[in-house]
Amino acid sequence: MKIIVVGTGFVGLPHAAVLSEYGHEVYAYDIDEERIRAYQSGDRDQIERYVNEPGLVEAIEETIDRYLHFTTSLDDVIESTDIIFMCLPTPPKRDGSTDLRFYMNAAHYLGGLLAQRSDKKRVVLVNKSTVPVSTARQLQKVMEEHGVENYGVASNPEFLAQGSAVEGSRRPDRVVVGADTEEDFVLLRQVYSQFVNHVRIRYLETTPETAESIKYVANTLLLTYISFWNGVGARLGESYANIHMEDLKIGVTADERISTWGSYVSNGAGGSCFGKDIQSLIYQLNRSGRSTDLLQAVYNINEYQKTYMIDRAVYEANFNFNNKRVALLGLAFKKRTNDMRDSSALKAVESLLAKGVAEIRAYDPLAMDDAQRSWFSPDNNHLFERITYHGTAKKAIEGSDALYISTDWEEFRGLASTIEQAVEPPYLVIDGRRMIPDYDRLIAKGYDYLSVGSVLRRPQPEEMDEDHSNGQLNAGVGQKMKTA
Ligand code: UDX
Repeated sequence: MKIIVVGTGFVGLPHAAVLSEYGHEVYAYDIDEERIRAYQSGDRDQIERYVNEPGLVEAIEETIDRYLHFTTSLDDVIESTDIIFMCLPTPPKRDGSTDLRFYMNAAHYLGGLLAQRSDKKRVVLVNKSTVPVSTARQLQKVMEEHGVENYGVASNPEFLAQGSAVEGSRRPDRVVVGADTEEDFVLLRQVYSQFVNHVRIRYLETTPETAESIKYVANTLLLTYISFWNGVGARLGESYANIHMEDLKIGVTADERISTWGSYVSNGAGGSCFGKDIQSLIYQLNRSGRSTDLLQAVYNINEYQKTYMIDRAVYEANFNFNNKRVALLGLAFKKRTNDMRDSSALKAVESLLAKGVAEIRAYDPLAMDDAQRSWFSPDNNHLFERITYHGTAKKAIEGSDALYISTDWEEFRGLASTIEQAVEPPYLVIDGRRMIPDYDRLIAKGYDYLSVGSVLRRPQPEEMDEDHSNGQLNAGVGQKMKTA
């Protein structure tokens, strides 16, 4: 089939590459000329500057110029196209609603081109980006305005997670297609022929509005589940000594109805989807006069969780951040990505700066360049100067008064010995990701250890016993939370 993919970011590029692997003729279009040049170069560094996903460069190399073409103009391509996938950015506005500017600009561009086609062959415009419910209808209106003939609109949301976008495109758990006519379902079945009637992959055909809703409900449910563990499981572990979070997780998730994914308690979930999608869903439901109490609570719990450990350090470990130097390990919103969108580290930095720290000594295996380039913009220069960047975790820890672990990078698991080599106690380790299972050795040597999901561990066991071991509530910052 002849397919156009509009937008070549994290969703569009892997999707285009994988479609071309199945022998479709794919034209990947983007308005950004530099980006398209980078992809055409085939050069790993240049491609990964835009989208860094395992297996992506290899997938592009495999089909480029045979089935996969990159372009900044669709003028000569539009004729006889079967399918157009819309993979455009849909960022949040201040009020939580979705900014459809990029999406609508592309829709008008396509409408103008499609109206001029001479062949008038059936073409289906398919939304892959996460867009508010009924955006397919808006797309239909744009096509009508331009007088486009013989077209259909459909919704086919993507469920990819960062770090596994190529694998996720090749082997999705489900393919959801929302369309209005059998003719359009047939075209999409041809695109996804390898997934239709697949034993393991659920191929669902439904209405465009249902397909659009599935994406929002799925993402907000996942965030609700994470927030349940952070807001309930972790709070219990933080309240009573002798609760082992890992055993708690095993005991609860042994029930096959309850998933292990999402039960990893943390300093909050970040990324480009969860926060944006829950805010957009709240906006959409409010607009139709519906209650959004649960969603609002989930959103608040997750946002609060991003600075919660720093508050615990103040209230439970009596740590005064004023004029202190704090090592910050991990900037990305999760391991194996350089993406800092909605990252907990962003909120942690804001909180630490507000508490008057003298220096934040940052290290991340992948996100350092991005952080220096764009995260702390010149607008925040006065804050920017208090953040220093270091080439290794050890260097960041050296000369600091406390350590905050924000991202679950594998290399942070062996951190106990690094801490011992880099700094002398008294020293506070704040662990937002439960990365130091052998914390006992740190306590034995005089370090303080404060981990999400557990009570404060300090070298003086008699004091700990008094505080926690006889089943009394640990009067922690959790009680001061407004929402959790
Ligand atoms: C997510 C969804 O998983 C995906 O289905 C959707 O299409 C886009 O949003 P992604 O943003 O790539 O994907 O990240 P994900 O791996 O889901 O993690 C999101 C955040 O939750 C990360 O900050 C992660 O560290 C955190 N998380 C995840 C937890 O805190 N605990 C967990 O158990 C799992």
